[in-house]
Amino acid sequence: MDQDTPSVDLLDCAPTVSTFYEEIVTGLRRTPPRLPCKYFYDQRGSQLFDQICEQDEYYLTDADLEIMRRYAPQMAEQIGPGVMLVEYGSGSSSKTRLLLDHLQDAVAYVPVDISRAHLQQTANTLSAAYRHIEILPVCADFTQPFELPTASQKPTHAAVFFPGSTIGNFPPDEVRRLLNQIATLCGSGGGLLIGIDLKKDVATLEAAYNDQQGVTAEFNLNLLERINRELEADFQPDHFRHDATYNDDQGRIEMYLVSQRAQSVSIGEETFEFDQGDRICTEYSHKYTVAEFAEIAAGVGLALRRQWTDRQNLFAVLHFARMN
Ligand code: TRP
Repeated sequence: MDQDTPSVDLLDCAPTVSTFYEEIVTGLRRTPPRLPCKYFYDQRGSQLFDQICEQDEYYLTDADLEIMRRYAPQMAEQIGPGVMLVEYGSGSSSKTRLLLDHLQDAVAYVPVDISRAHLQQTANTLSAAYRHIEILPVCADFTQPFELPTASQKPTHAAVFFPGSTIGNFPPDEVRRLLNQIATLCGSGGGLLIGIDLKKDVATLEAAYNDQQGVTAEFNLNLLERINRELEADFQPDHFRHDATYNDDQGRIEMYLVSQRAQSVSIGEETFEFDQGDRICTEYSHKYTVAEFAEIAAGVGLALRRQWTDRQNLFAVLHFARMN
């Protein structure tokens, strides 16, 4: 690390190796087998993810950035003064800067991310750039309940920023649970600023998850490398193939690792058999209309207050407020 950059203290609630093991084994025992997508983000995975965001086919990044650049002042106004801003899955926090630049008297910024190294780096950089905002990073799996750190100055309210359409990576029942958890975390007067990827033609959707350079494929396969390294497993990543297709009925991209031959894989004491063509589901990316998403949110007491989209209507950022 740069010697001149102060190191911000980090609250560490990251999953342990045994949780990782349990979740992987449980997922693989299911029919069809599944691997939880939060484990994509080891150091290599986080780097690959940043690279996905730079691919031409991956329209989400540009659309999201276009919206943020154009409307950050309106969003900041909508969030209001004196906030504690909590970001879910903060990664490199590049979009956050646009918000932080416009928020009035923000008290604290709490980036929450499962990737410790990435989080630490981002927190250090931000605390150097925003000296008047307290940076309080939390390394956690945000799908599990976690405590908000205490800021030295009392915020007027909390707001969750959940960009990048990460919410799309959860199945509908999880979405409800997560939104509920967010509503509780924010308390009354709290808000949610969230990005969703909009429904659109299948060709555009599928191209985004099958980039020419094969970065998404590498990202998908890196999960097997990680399991090998951290859980002493013996997956042969080149005996699996990346597959991403749009499921129109479910309104989502489904990402799989497809077994290219009959093979058996051991993880610790466990052995798993795969036939040629067997698929391990690694990720969903749900696409919504604004109305569909607003309806789900209304079900947990979050009311849609404002919405912003890019010029091509590819992506949307929505602001919700707690109804009570
Ligand atoms: N949430 C974004 C999406 O669904 C980013 C993302 C998460 C992603 N995991 C991914 C993109 C895996 C490609 C592959 O698009």
